[in-house]
Amino acid sequence: CYPHLPDFFLFLKHCYKSIFSLYSVPVDLDVRLRRLDLSNNFIRQLHTLVLPYLEQLDLSANQLDLISEGAFKNLAQLKELNLSRNALNNNLDSNSKALQSISRLQSLDISVNSLNGEAVELYLRNKSSLDQLKMTGNALTRLSHSLFKESKGLRDITIEDNTISVIEEGTFEPLSQLEMLNLAKNNLVQICDFKLHHLKYLNLSRNSLEYFFTHEDDQLYRLEILDLSFNKLLYFPIVPKMSSLRYLHLQNNMIGTLNSEATMVSEANSLYNEIIKEKIARKNNLHSNWRLMPLIYIDLSYNHFTSFPLETLSLLSSLETLNFSYNCLQNIVWNIRNHSDSSYSRQIFFPSLKHLDLQSNGLLYISPLFLNALTQIEALNLQDNSLQLCASMEHLRSSQSTQQISLNTSCIAFGRLRTLKHLNLKENKIKMLNPNTFQGTSLVSLNLARNSDMVMHEGALDSVQTTIQSLIISEINMTSSDLSLPCMPVLTELKAANNRLDIIPSSLSCSPLREIDIRNNVLMTLNHSLIHALSGNLDRIYISGNHFNCCDSKWVTVLKELQIEMPDMSDTECFTSISNMVMTEYLKNPLLYCSLHKKAQEVHFGQMFIIVLFAFVILTAFILFTRKRSSSKIQYNKKPTCYCIYMYTF
Ligand SMILES: *[C@@H]1O[C@H](CO)[C@@H](O)[C@H](O)[C@H]1NC(C)=O
Ligand SMILES: *[C@@H]1O[C@H](CO)[C@@H](O)[C@H](O)[C@H]1NC(C)=O
Ligand SMILES: *[C@@H]1O[C@H](CO)[C@@H](O)[C@H](O)[C@H]1NC(C)=O
Ligand SMILES: *[C@@H]1O[C@H](CO)[C@@H](O)[C@H](O)[C@H]1NC(C)=O
Ligand SMILES: *[C@@H]1O[C@H](CO)[C@@H](O)[C@H](O)[C@H]1NC(C)=O
Ligand SMILES: *[C@@H]1O[C@H](CO)[C@@H](O)[C@H](O)[C@H]1NC(C)=O
Ligand SMILES: *[C@@H]1O[C@H](CO)[C@@H](O)[C@H](O)[C@H]1NC(C)=O
Repeated sequence: CYPHLPDFFLFLKHCYKSIFSLYSVPVDLDVRLRRLDLSNNFIRQLHTLVLPYLEQLDLSANQLDLISEGAFKNLAQLKELNLSRNALNNNLDSNSKALQSISRLQSLDISVNSLNGEAVELYLRNKSSLDQLKMTGNALTRLSHSLFKESKGLRDITIEDNTISVIEEGTFEPLSQLEMLNLAKNNLVQICDFKLHHLKYLNLSRNSLEYFFTHEDDQLYRLEILDLSFNKLLYFPIVPKMSSLRYLHLQNNMIGTLNSEATMVSEANSLYNEIIKEKIARKNNLHSNWRLMPLIYIDLSYNHFTSFPLETLSLLSSLETLNFSYNCLQNIVWNIRNHSDSSYSRQIFFPSLKHLDLQSNGLLYISPLFLNALTQIEALNLQDNSLQLCASMEHLRSSQSTQQISLNTSCIAFGRLRTLKHLNLKENKIKMLNPNTFQGTSLVSLNLARNSDMVMHEGALDSVQTTIQSLIISEINMTSSDLSLPCMPVLTELKAANNRLDIIPSSLSCSPLREIDIRNNVLMTLNHSLIHALSGNLDRIYISGNHFNCCDSKWVTVLKELQIEMPDMSDTECFTSISNMVMTEYLKNPLLYCSLHKKAQEVHFGQMFIIVLFAFVILTAFILFTRKRSSSKIQYNKKPTCYCIYMYTF
């Protein structure tokens, strides 16, 4: 409990676990200490400390309820104080005087102390140097304008997990250094006037927010990250017009509940006009603000969209990542308002979008014009939808004009997504993978897992066979005859677990595979010359859940010799003519189990011969026996021969 650390850091955390419990601060501390960690003890009272060089004091997770007035007076260098998880809602008079005496403090943590607004206000007096404040898990219900009046230098405030429902005007505005504000897990219902220009990070996740509005002004806001996730928003937030907003978290809200995009936009605008008490119907505020936002990331997963807000999202010209998973789209149709009377649909673009997540949307249809709009797309997640894939574009072009295809095909064609590298089509009930399905893309990874009973046409991967590095075809229930793979010269990962494969395609010998997963198939053996061919790159292979023949397992020996990792070897079973056993068990003594097996096999092949031989011997014996009557004792030599052969056949 008293280690001598060279940097004058004394670590007395969890002392009760070792020699003794600390019920008070030890008296004989080295005066040169700079850091003192007394967390997780049973200290209840704190009296005067004389540690003139101490910079960091951690008293978190004790039972501290009384700090004597002069306790910190002699801690001239103290900069960081952690008092979280104590009982500082008691003895406010004495405790607050102690805390008020350290005006040089830069970081203070008073989380989980059952503090209310008045207590916090007292503790924050005389804190002109305070930079970082944490008061998570207290009992604050209202933030008053006088709360931070003596700690105006605050840069980073975290007040998560209280029950704040009111923030008085003037609470945060005077804090001119404030950059980070975390108010997650409170009871805020609306933000109808956001005006913290200096703020860079605002976290309002897990409140009950119904809307978020900013009054329009021409000032530049520095806001970069806004988290409004897990609230009750019905509309997109109205963010500052001139902002630096780059990350917008809106997942788990109710946006999109109002059916069409047009309704949603006009409702949001009229609500906005109501708030700013604008009488005349004004321009489209939502859109004019969004147009200027330098957003690169927006998370809209787990909302209520039934239609894709094409126009609104296409305004975000810097957007790189759009998460639209877990909504209820079903279809992405191209219902763009046309500027003229042209019968052709207007094409708009998502000019920077690289990552699009559309998982779990019940999608049956995606307009080809939507795919056209994704000019920079790299990763597309379509997992858990009901999409069917078109045969190659070439095939369609020959039968119809492109415009016709655009309007009424019910399948999805990837041909125009030249930049596409990562495609996830897991769980789509795809029945058939036609030749050249991915022609025109530059696929690096492809996930086709869990498309039960999908048939993969020979040539399905043609034209991406030279770029594909990771292929997942697990849980398809395909047999080896449903699977034909081309030579894939850069494939490094193959996952083919949970199928009914009985051989591994030998075309894989082309590939520099590093990892193979063939668990839960019906393989009886592996091609050891294929393994040799792969050995230059192969690191790992998963093999359990197959129906391996122990006695045809040269491949295991080869894998072992090549020192290829088999992580599930201990779960791998094989069978002999006698029983099933764990492969590792078998390998301890292969001869014991398989010499028998070999004999049995020989018997099988020699059965006819033995029957004939046996008949011959019986016949001979019979002849000898009949002769026995005439001649005498020679036949004794023959009988053991007959017996021996009989035993052998068993
Ligand atoms: C204070 O200590 C607690 C552990 O008891 C820790 O979780 C928290 O991060 C510390 N606060 C600061 C500001 O470092
Ligand atoms: C504020 O802190 C300074 C020292 O940092 C101290 O001299 C002064 O008495 C404190 N004020 C109060 C009201 O405690
Ligand atoms: C906001 O706070 C919540 C709750 O603590 C946290 O889970 C989330 O990661 C934070 N958001 C951001 C963008 O940091
Ligand atoms: C999208 O959101 C879902 C659910 O919140 C999450 O699981 C997924 O990882 C996210 N996708 C991306 C690309 O961030
Ligand atoms: C597209 O629509 C035309 C006319 O309605 C129809 O003849 C054609 O078969 C449709 N094509 C497909 C692929 O559905
Ligand atoms: C896999 O296919 C076999 C034969 O068609 C069928 O009996 C079995 O139910 C299928 N299994 C699954 C999980 O679809
Ligand atoms: C085993 O793999 C090699 C390629 O390394 C191939 O030439 C051979 O035909 C395969 N044997 C069987 C039985 O599939």
